[in-house]
Amino acid sequence: MGATLFGDWMARINKNYDKLSAGYLFPEIAKRTKAFVEKNPGVEVLRLGIGNTTEPLTPAVINALHFGVDKLADVRTYTGYGDEQGDSRLRKMIVDFYAKRGVSLEVDEVFVSDGAKPDSANIQSIFGTDNIVAVQDPAYPVYVDTNVIGGRTGTANGSTYEGIVYMRCDESNGFFPDVPKQKVDLIYLCSPNNPTGAVATKDQLKGFVDYARANKAVIIFDSAYYSFISDPSLPRSIYEIPGAKECAIEINSFSKSTGFTGVRLGWSIVPKAIVTEDAPTGRVNALWNRRQTTMFNGASNIVQEGGLAALSPGGLIENQKIIDYYMENARIIRDGLKAKGFTVYGGTNAPYLWVKTKNGMSSWDFFDKILNEAHVVTTPGSGFGPAGEGYFRVSAFGHRENVVKAVDSIRVNLKV
Ligand code: MLT
Repeated sequence: MGATLFGDWMARINKNYDKLSAGYLFPEIAKRTKAFVEKNPGVEVLRLGIGNTTEPLTPAVINALHFGVDKLADVRTYTGYGDEQGDSRLRKMIVDFYAKRGVSLEVDEVFVSDGAKPDSANIQSIFGTDNIVAVQDPAYPVYVDTNVIGGRTGTANGSTYEGIVYMRCDESNGFFPDVPKQKVDLIYLCSPNNPTGAVATKDQLKGFVDYARANKAVIIFDSAYYSFISDPSLPRSIYEIPGAKECAIEINSFSKSTGFTGVRLGWSIVPKAIVTEDAPTGRVNALWNRRQTTMFNGASNIVQEGGLAALSPGGLIENQKIIDYYMENARIIRDGLKAKGFTVYGGTNAPYLWVKTKNGMSSWDFFDKILNEAHVVTTPGSGFGPAGEGYFRVSAFGHRENVVKAVDSIRVNLKV
């Protein structure tokens, strides 16, 4: 007789989780920081690690959120479930937002969500497990980890996974990769890039769009940091590249542009024109619609009021001031680190700075050194992939006085 009425069969877990080589990066940083704080009570720790917004929401957005709450207090304006794909007014506003950059989309190609992280994690679920995945290296860890969980990789091999194509981004290519030399199916690109702060040019994106169309591959383009681009020649959306609607899904966010990291709101564009080896036009869009209507009940109605205000002309002007504030932080960090003799990349059209460690130290050793000597939390580059080894990332999100204190502390206390 087995362990159950039906023999030895019992519930089983998704063993792909066992392949994940370590905990998720940011909880690991939080764990090390907590241990430092416990050992050093009273020491002020300055946090430039996770890209977490710190400045209050703008008046236009706050008023709209209040308005959203008040609507729920009155039987005449109360609403329960909304459309899983998002409030049609917000979807239309997103279409108009793209139209200003010459990109024409249809409302049913826009899917409002509770943020770019869930969308970039969930999008892989509409693609077959036999797809070959390519990522920029280094990359936002969600792309790789969710494909490991989804069963598209073998086991971890040091800091890489069998089956993933790592497109190296380093000083030699300006932190943007060449198109893969072999056939890949799903390509994750992030621009402005987390973590390197590099921004792809139109020509660079065109190379990938041409590759994807020629090979019926799909690009998953994460543009969560688009609002930090000030150089008008740089694309804010992949759809600024002709042909991209046939091969690219774009994931976007209100987190960093509007300060909604805790509020939660984002959107994805899944064009009907996308074709894959086995999906004619319309099918990929229909699959994402099916996924969202099955597994998601729509973003909060209150929060979507905030989103409408954020994309209004007045809301965009107000938000720009906060973006400028964070970018001034980036300038202060860049100048301070350069003065200390560091080699610094990024931070001009992106809120992240990508910095080389000193004396060939590893990313985690340098993370511990900065924490112990300067009491500043950064993010170790190797946490983003093998090509991140020997670098650390500094986030420009933070109160100005903390950023200034952190840079001063690195200048005075870090022994390099
Ligand atoms: C980061 O620090 O990389 C981001 O804040 C993480 C995220 O947006 O999920």
